[in-house]
Amino acid sequence: MKTFKRYTVTAALPYANGPLHIGHIAGCYLPADIYVRYLRSKGRDVVFICGSDEHGVPITIRARKENITPQQVVDKYHNQMKQTFEEMGIAFSIYSRTSSPVHHKTASDIFMKLYNKGIFQESVTEQYYDEKVGQFLADRYITGTCPNCGNPNAYGDQCEKCGTSLSPLDLKNPVSALSGEKPVLRETKNWFLPLDKLQPQIEAYINKHSDWKPNVFGQCKSWLSQGLQPRAMTRDLDWGVKVPLKGAENKVLYVWFDAPIGYISATKELTKDWEKYWKDEDTRLIHFIGKDNIVFHCIIFPSVLMCDGDYILPDNVPANEFLNLEGEKISTSRNWAVWVHEYLLDFPGKQDVMRYALCANAPEAKDNDFTWKDFQARNNNELVAILGNFVHRTQVLTWKYFDGKIPHAEAYEKSDLFVMEELSRFPQKIADSIETFHFREALSELMNLARMGNKYLADNEPWKAITHNPKRVQTVLNISQQICANLAVLMKPFMPFTSDKLSKLLNVAPLNWDAAGKATMLPDGHKLSEATMLFERIEDETVQKQVDKLHASKTVSETTKTVAPSKNTIAFEDFEKMDLRVGTIVNAEKVSGADKLLKLTVNTGIDTRTVVSGIAKYYKPEQIIGKQVCLLVNLTPRKLRGIESQGMILMAENADGELIFVSPVKTETDNGAIVK
Ligand code: MF3
Ligand code: ZN
Repeated sequence: MKTFKRYTVTAALPYANGPLHIGHIAGCYLPADIYVRYLRSKGRDVVFICGSDEHGVPITIRARKENITPQQVVDKYHNQMKQTFEEMGIAFSIYSRTSSPVHHKTASDIFMKLYNKGIFQESVTEQYYDEKVGQFLADRYITGTCPNCGNPNAYGDQCEKCGTSLSPLDLKNPVSALSGEKPVLRETKNWFLPLDKLQPQIEAYINKHSDWKPNVFGQCKSWLSQGLQPRAMTRDLDWGVKVPLKGAENKVLYVWFDAPIGYISATKELTKDWEKYWKDEDTRLIHFIGKDNIVFHCIIFPSVLMCDGDYILPDNVPANEFLNLEGEKISTSRNWAVWVHEYLLDFPGKQDVMRYALCANAPEAKDNDFTWKDFQARNNNELVAILGNFVHRTQVLTWKYFDGKIPHAEAYEKSDLFVMEELSRFPQKIADSIETFHFREALSELMNLARMGNKYLADNEPWKAITHNPKRVQTVLNISQQICANLAVLMKPFMPFTSDKLSKLLNVAPLNWDAAGKATMLPDGHKLSEATMLFERIEDETVQKQVDKLHASKTVSETTKTVAPSKNTIAFEDFEKMDLRVGTIVNAEKVSGADKLLKLTVNTGIDTRTVVSGIAKYYKPEQIIGKQVCLLVNLTPRKLRGIESQGMILMAENADGELIFVSPVKTETDNGAIVK
């Protein structure tokens, strides 16, 4: 494998049109940050580039919604996002923005260079136009039915349901996102990048990179096999980088032309020496992105760079899949998200817990689900019980027996040599996983080191040995402290805040990667700082509050509401056959082994009986005990998980599949009252 002199690492420029959620962090910013922190720890020359993507239709649509200007939108969110990244410990070398003058000039210059080389195809084509608003409808300004999967809410540039990239003319039943009107076709001139002609070069480039992650390489191959089409690099819009040509006064550069160039502009702002990060073959260019950005970073941007001719091409594009939340797609419009700035307020000082949970459960190879239960379990069962516990025991025992000074290791036994030998392998093992973008694996190796430490303490029981063999305790605690010092170095890419805390506990300056692997990091007699805990337990109420907040603030958007059509008419006698009553839930408990079911005991006025109900996802037993409900009492009993259910409680199922009780009456009434 080629060795590189330096690294240019980028993370996708997020649209400055709304706050960051955990899906953003898990998708590309956290993996990029882990990678960069590791490189820095290895002493490599690296720039880590990001910034706000401030052009494009998502910004202008937001502006219309909020009744403010696009500039006001980006000003508001740029600063908020920048701060959120900082607080989460995402340590960019620079967080710039594409509205900066340097960027406008850089993008415009590259466009002109390609123009002067005669690369663009100038074509007059028919584009959708909204006559009511007097505007062309590019990209997300137009919605319609996806020709591929039938999703009625596909955008002009992409269907978010099936991931297909589209052009507005592909949509069936197109509608203007501005006015809701049916658009008309109007002729306009634009400049196209002839991807069809560039296909052989792009194909050769992609084929050299069969080592890319399978999801990335696979998507590229599928694009190529469909045959690339020319793509317009200009748009009839007024928000963006102006097209620097006569006769194009009302046009701007396509946002996917200008935004990736933002990586270059930001590097220019960062350092006068920017060229070596973009033009030297010994520099490794790596783009961290989410999966919806693959084609732009693997095909379109490299094509632009190739056409320019002065730049290196991306050497790898590690893209993650998507993170879902509590079983559903994260959605800004439905407010189904964990907003990072809110997390930081609700969990002060716990950045690393979220970093850990998101990395341990990162959607590296497939979409994954974030749940607050998993978050709590990661914290309590892993960070507290394994990592925190090992470090804390080691510190406390060293204080107790040796007054907080690293004891001298007397003779090493076989088990000590084994542990030291294992220890020496960890830095390379973790590094190999990081270098190949397997961050989950890397993190689990880190935890294995802590596990090894716990086992070593448990096997040697220094708390017992102290009475009869204090020399042995010296060795055991010396080695345990060395493991702690190694952990401080090796955890830094993943959990930088905790790493600093641990370095402080150990009273050492933060060390680099290559210092790790040795059992001699802390010299004999070295004095520790006072022992404090690295992590604390997170209680059930705390995560339940988050789940409740999520459900409470969820908005059901009009377009996703579907109402089932009515069923066939039935005779009144059929209705009369149903014996509906009012009852009170007097007890409720979980059914073991069935996460959807609750076993309810209901006083129906006639009797007290058992009803098994599939509502465990929406209600906790204690929330519904005492509740009056409406139920069907003469339904044939049936067994669910071995429990006989004697009736059915009436529930309303909303568009999101949630079940809500159908209340019998506003005020309490007698159990057994007939419902008709
Ligand atoms: N703003 C885009 C998005 O959020 C990503 C732009 S990445 C860049 O999907 F390369 F264009 F900068
Ligand atoms: Zn589709």
